[in-house]
Amino acid sequence: MLLLVFALIAIAARAASHDPFSPANWPLPHNITGDSLTSTGQWGGVHVHDPSVVKGPDGYYYSFSTHNLVAISKAPSLDGYWKFIGSVLKGESVIPLAGRNDTWAPNVVQIGDTYYCYYSVSTFGSMDSGIGLATSRTLQPGSWTDHGLVLESGATKEYPLNDTNAIDPNFFHDPKTGENLLNYGSFWSDIWQFQLAKDLKSVLWKPPPVHLSFDPVGTNPEEGSFMSYHDGWYYLWYSHGICCGYNVSALPPPGQEYSIRLGRSKSSHGPFLDRNGTDLVDGGGYIVYGSHDYVYGPGGQGVLQDYHGRDVLYYHYVPTYISYLDTDKRLGWDYIDYVDGWPVLVY
Ligand SMILES: *[C@@H]1O[C@H](CO)[C@@H](O)[C@H](O)[C@H]1NC(C)=O
Ligand SMILES: *[C@@H]1O[C@H](CO)[C@@H](O)[C@H](O)[C@H]1NC(C)=O
Ligand SMILES: *[C@@H]1O[C@H](CO)[C@@H](O)[C@H](O)[C@H]1NC(C)=O
Ligand SMILES: *[C@@H]1O[C@H](CO)[C@@H](O)[C@H](O)[C@H]1NC(C)=O
Ligand SMILES: *[C@@H]1O[C@H](CO)[C@@H](O)[C@H](O)[C@H]1NC(C)=O
Repeated sequence: MLLLVFALIAIAARAASHDPFSPANWPLPHNITGDSLTSTGQWGGVHVHDPSVVKGPDGYYYSFSTHNLVAISKAPSLDGYWKFIGSVLKGESVIPLAGRNDTWAPNVVQIGDTYYCYYSVSTFGSMDSGIGLATSRTLQPGSWTDHGLVLESGATKEYPLNDTNAIDPNFFHDPKTGENLLNYGSFWSDIWQFQLAKDLKSVLWKPPPVHLSFDPVGTNPEEGSFMSYHDGWYYLWYSHGICCGYNVSALPPPGQEYSIRLGRSKSSHGPFLDRNGTDLVDGGGYIVYGSHDYVYGPGGQGVLQDYHGRDVLYYHYVPTYISYLDTDKRLGWDYIDYVDGWPVLVY
């Protein structure tokens, strides 16, 4: 009997070691080097939240973070050294909403010769929120023009803006249809998608907005969506669970902290299904990366394409060998492999 148990354990262990989707095979993040300024109230350097990473015209990598009016850092490689160089906004956002002095969750993309930075204005737990836009030709601090509101949510707004939180913007250019899309949302009815107008500064109502993902359970904790495309599949990545304010003596029940999930579709408008075939709007979503080893609450993710010829997933996490504090959150990254058309992270 004992032998049988050992044999079964051995088979299960081997199955896990050969199953590229098993949490047992989640890689550690690459350790990065860079400035550490959070003790002075400054974000950037190694300490980022909801990062967005792009390659600049000078060959450097640039990261953009929540806080510090969109903190900008640069490094010669994803491993660092990440140097904090300033902010996107010169002062508070032109958007007249609470939180305009502490913008969140930027998403920076290059379109032609211009960089577009979509950012969020809100306060914790409020859906009176706005997504704004700033543009630059160079990515450098001081070079950005703030164009203000692209989308606003609130209780008196038109549906679905009365039941969504207009933060966590994600610009996606559909390589097949040429459409420019704005995915967004955080809690309430979770993740939605609008078509952007030609100027990329406002949304269209026709075709109508699309509901991409919804967790009907509890507080509907989905946010931070990011869309990517690889080899005929569209992937909708998002962060699920409690993002912030971890207290080591009162952590969320296991599995309720942040994790990175996704579904895939043959269309950028969905439906996005997970590995079980469950639609993301019905609570589906396969966990690509979650807490393990010294990594806790990974999320705020994005995909960087063609890093030495491969796709990379970057994200923030807390290294528990230091602390669980928000101010110790840092940038992590791993390569993406595609197994039967499903992304898996590898070191
Ligand atoms: C990252 O650094 C920590 C602390 O020094 C170390 O324990 C860990 O093994 C390192 N991780 C990798 C992937 O090298
Ligand atoms: C933003 O303004 C609010 C209200 O005045 C203030 O309480 C908060 O400390 C400010 N935040 C930052 C990061 O400056
Ligand atoms: C949003 O507005 C629609 C009508 O436009 C209404 O049916 C719905 O109940 C509203 N939702 C919320 C959460 O207020
Ligand atoms: C952390 O949790 C403990 C136990 O519930 C509590 O006593 C403490 O006040 C919490 N700390 C913070 C900073 O909330
Ligand atoms: C499939 O569903 C099962 C049972 O609900 C769940 O435990 C598992 O995590 C799901 N797998 C994926 C890939 O979503």
